[in-house]
Amino acid sequence: MSNPLTLEAHGVDLDHAVYQPIVSRLHQTIQNRSGAGGEFLGWMDTPDLMDETMIQRLTATAARLNESCDIIISIGIGGSYLGNIMGERFLSSPLATSKLRYAGQTISSDAMYDLLEEVKGKRFGLIVISKSGTTTEPAIAFRLLLNQLKQQDPEYAKHVVAITDANKGALKTLAVNEGFEQYIIPDDVGGRYSVLTPVGLLTFAILGFDLRALLHGAKQAKADASAEDLSSNLAYQYAAFRHALYQGQGRKIELLVAFEPTLTMFGEWWKQLFGESEGKDNVGLFPASVTYSTDLHSMGQYVQEGERHLFETVIFVDESRHPVTVPLMESDLDELNYLAGKSLQEINRFAMLGTMQAHLDGDVPQLIFHLGKRDEFHLGYLIYTMELACAMSGYMIGVNPFDQPGVEHYKRNMFALLGKPKK
Ligand code: PA5
Repeated sequence: MSNPLTLEAHGVDLDHAVYQPIVSRLHQTIQNRSGAGGEFLGWMDTPDLMDETMIQRLTATAARLNESCDIIISIGIGGSYLGNIMGERFLSSPLATSKLRYAGQTISSDAMYDLLEEVKGKRFGLIVISKSGTTTEPAIAFRLLLNQLKQQDPEYAKHVVAITDANKGALKTLAVNEGFEQYIIPDDVGGRYSVLTPVGLLTFAILGFDLRALLHGAKQAKADASAEDLSSNLAYQYAAFRHALYQGQGRKIELLVAFEPTLTMFGEWWKQLFGESEGKDNVGLFPASVTYSTDLHSMGQYVQEGERHLFETVIFVDESRHPVTVPLMESDLDELNYLAGKSLQEINRFAMLGTMQAHLDGDVPQLIFHLGKRDEFHLGYLIYTMELACAMSGYMIGVNPFDQPGVEHYKRNMFALLGKPKK
C-alpha cells in the first residue's frame, strides 16, 4: 500500500543536523512521559485500548439509540465536540443530513429555542459529553434538553448516554443516580486529544462509520511514527518544519488549507488541538484555517499580498470518492471545452498546484500533506499524526502541550458577573 500520508515542503529547509538531536531528546521525553503534562499522554494508547469488546459495546449502544430515536443530540464543547463534528463532516457527503444534532457549544437563546422546537413531540436521545462534568455551556444545554426529554418520554433514562470521568464530577454523579448508560474518558487523555475514545467513537458508530478501520489507521500512524528518525517520522518532520518557520523565519500564523469542503471542520478541530496546546507563556503559532477555492475569493488577496507573517499547511486528498468529468458543450460560450473530459479531481489538483506556486511567489512558505483517500483509515492516520506532531511541537517551544490554564480566565469573569456562589 502506498503511504497514507506524505509531506512536502516549499520555501523552508530543515537542517537535520540541528533538529535531529532536539527531536531525539524530545522523542524520549514523549515516550517516557517525563515532560510537562506527561500524565496526559494516554491518547497514545487509545488506538489499542479501544479494542473489539469496546467496539462491540459502542456499536450496540449506537444501534439502540438509532432504533429508538429520530434525533440524537450530542452535547459538548471544545474537545468534547470538535472531533465529533469534524469526523462526521470528514466522512460524510457535504449534502448529507444525519439524525445527529450538536448542542452545548453556545449559550445562544435562539439556537436552543430552535433545537427545543425541533425535538418537541419527537423521539429523541441525548449523548452528554464532558470530561470535567462541570463545563457551563454543555451543562446548561443538558439541563434544558433533559428537562424536555423528561416531560415527553417516561423512559427518558434509556435515551441518555453520559461520557465523562470514571470517578468524579457532577455528570458522573447524575449518571449514576439516574441510571444513564456511561462511557469513560480516560483520566490521562485531555479533551482535545480524546476523539479516538468513546467521545468521538460513539458518534461515529451512530453514523455507521467503520470504527475498526479508523482505529487501524491510528495504529498504523503510531507504528510509522515510533522511531525518532526525522527523515522517516512524518509527525516529527511536521513539528520541526513548523518550528523552523516560527523561530527561524518569524512566521507567526499557520493557515491550514483544505481543498475539500468536507475538511473545513477538520480545520476547526486542528485549531483547538494546536491553539490550546501551544498558545501559552506568550508564545505559539496562531492557527487559522481556510477552504479553497472558496476562500481564495475572500482571503486569497491577503495571502498573496498581505503582511508576510504566515505560512500555509495544505491537506490535499489525492483520490476522490466519486469521479465527475467536465462535459463537452457545442456552443462553448463559457470557453470551457478545453477542460472537456477532464476530471474535477484533476482540475482541483491543478488549482492547488497553481495556487501554491502563486503563494510561494508571494513569499508564503508551504507544507503540503497528501492524504491518500477520504475514508476511516486515512482519518485515523491523520488524527494520530497531528496529535503526535502537536506534542512534539509544543515541547519544542517549551510549553506544556496538555494543559489550558488560560481558558479559566473568561470563566472566572463570567461566573462573577452571573453571581455564581463560591464553594
Ligand atoms: O482540551 C480541553 O481539555 C478543553 O478544551 C475541553 O475540551 C473543553 O473545555 C471541554 O471540557 P469538558 O469536556 O470537561 O466539558
